[in-house]
Amino acid sequence: MQNITPCLFALFLTNLCLHLSSAADVLYQVCGTTGNYTVNSTYSSNLKTLTSSLSTEAVAEQGFYENTIGTAPDQISGLVLCRGDVNSSICGDCLNQSIQYVMNGCPYAKEATIYYDFCLLRYSNQQFLNSTDNMNPNLLYSTQNVTSSIISGWDPSNNTVKNYFNTVVNTLLSSVSDQAAYNSRKRFGTGVINITGSLPVIYGLSQCTPDFSNNTCRACLQDLIDEMPKYFSGNQGGRILGVRCNLRYKKEFGYYCLSGKVG
Ligand SMILES: *[C@@H]1O[C@H](CO)[C@@H](O)[C@H](O)[C@H]1NC(C)=O
Ligand SMILES: *[C@@H]1O[C@H](CO)[C@@H](O)[C@H](O)[C@H]1NC(C)=O
Ligand SMILES: *[C@@H]1O[C@H](CO)[C@@H](O)[C@H](O)[C@H]1NC(C)=O
Ligand SMILES: *[C@@H]1O[C@H](CO)[C@@H](O)[C@H](O)[C@H]1NC(C)=O
Ligand SMILES: *[C@@H]1O[C@H](CO)[C@@H](O)[C@H](O)[C@H]1NC(C)=O
Ligand SMILES: *[C@@H]1O[C@H](CO)[C@@H](O)[C@H](O)[C@H]1NC(C)=O
Ligand SMILES: *[C@@H]1O[C@H](CO)[C@@H](O)[C@H](O)[C@H]1NC(C)=O
Ligand SMILES: *[C@@H]1O[C@H](CO)[C@@H](O)[C@H](O)[C@H]1NC(C)=O
Ligand SMILES: *[C@@H]1O[C@H](CO)[C@@H](O)[C@H](O)[C@H]1NC(C)=O
Repeated sequence: MQNITPCLFALFLTNLCLHLSSAADVLYQVCGTTGNYTVNSTYSSNLKTLTSSLSTEAVAEQGFYENTIGTAPDQISGLVLCRGDVNSSICGDCLNQSIQYVMNGCPYAKEATIYYDFCLLRYSNQQFLNSTDNMNPNLLYSTQNVTSSIISGWDPSNNTVKNYFNTVVNTLLSSVSDQAAYNSRKRFGTGVINITGSLPVIYGLSQCTPDFSNNTCRACLQDLIDEMPKYFSGNQGGRILGVRCNLRYKKEFGYYCLSGKVG
């Protein structure tokens, strides 16, 4: 087992993660429990006003937009965020799709949240835009566990090996999170860790909503990093989706399945 020292790995903060997967599938959808609206109500029309502008505004604002329409009790707030590396047509398509999908999937819910690979959308009758709350993040696991053919000497019951893997993932995610928080106006970071000879190449990605300050962003991501070993130890990939910040690591590009909740 190698020790982790800076000379043992090359950490490249490059655009290598930026390949787009073809998946336009919904990753996760949560219908809120803050009440239902009715057909032709003021809330319904406020929702329509909000959603009709979200996509075009987000595209105009480089992938992030939030707005509040109306006054209580019919007030609605919405937030959308596209992945930091997608272009405007993918961003706009994803948001248009998310609006349609979530309104079908959560009919008449005053609050709903939906995550795609390339964008996320949340709206609610609660004012959440002034909050740094990450809104009960959701977990996605890779379909595959680490095996001894991927990491030589791998044994799921051997904590030394597991801790080594977790430390490497932690190093990668800390680095991409620093990049997102301190080195990106979009609050978006990607990277690769490549420890030749002992581990496969592992890719990482972090993103916050760009209205977060550098330190608020970093703290939001750190909360997720702290949760990783608890849920993803021994997994080839893991991902935590929050409205305010999200991150992921993966051995290679592919599919995630099995979702759950942090907590
Ligand atoms: C765990 O794996 C390490 C590295 O392969 C090995 O040196 C150690 O003996 C293993 N520990 C156990 C309890 O098997
Ligand atoms: C809202 O509608 C859903 C299903 O359409 C229902 O299960 C839920 O009880 C309703 N909630 C309220 C507060 O009426
Ligand atoms: C909603 O408004 C439309 C257009 O005014 C009307 O045709 C429809 O009957 C109304 N639906 C309900 C349930 O009130
Ligand atoms: C956006 O990216 C997609 C996928 O890489 C590409 O097919 C498309 O041509 C791009 N569109 C624009 C407007 O750059
Ligand atoms: C998304 O929907 C809006 C409103 O319907 C439309 O103007 C816009 O062209 C759509 N964007 C894309 C990328 O399809
Ligand atoms: C956000 O705004 C709402 C309504 O204006 C208020 O009730 C709530 O306390 C605010 N939350 C924070 C964290 O400032
Ligand atoms: C991965 O490991 C977990 C925990 O040991 C196990 O529950 C799960 O079935 C494994 N998944 C696969 C695809 O082997
Ligand atoms: C973080 O943001 C603060 C306030 O905008 C700024 O003064 C500071 O230089 C930033 N730090 C880094 C490392 O970007
Ligand atoms: C990982 O490092 C090896 C050896 O330096 C190199 O051949 C390979 O291309 C690297 N892979 C990536 C994805 O950086």
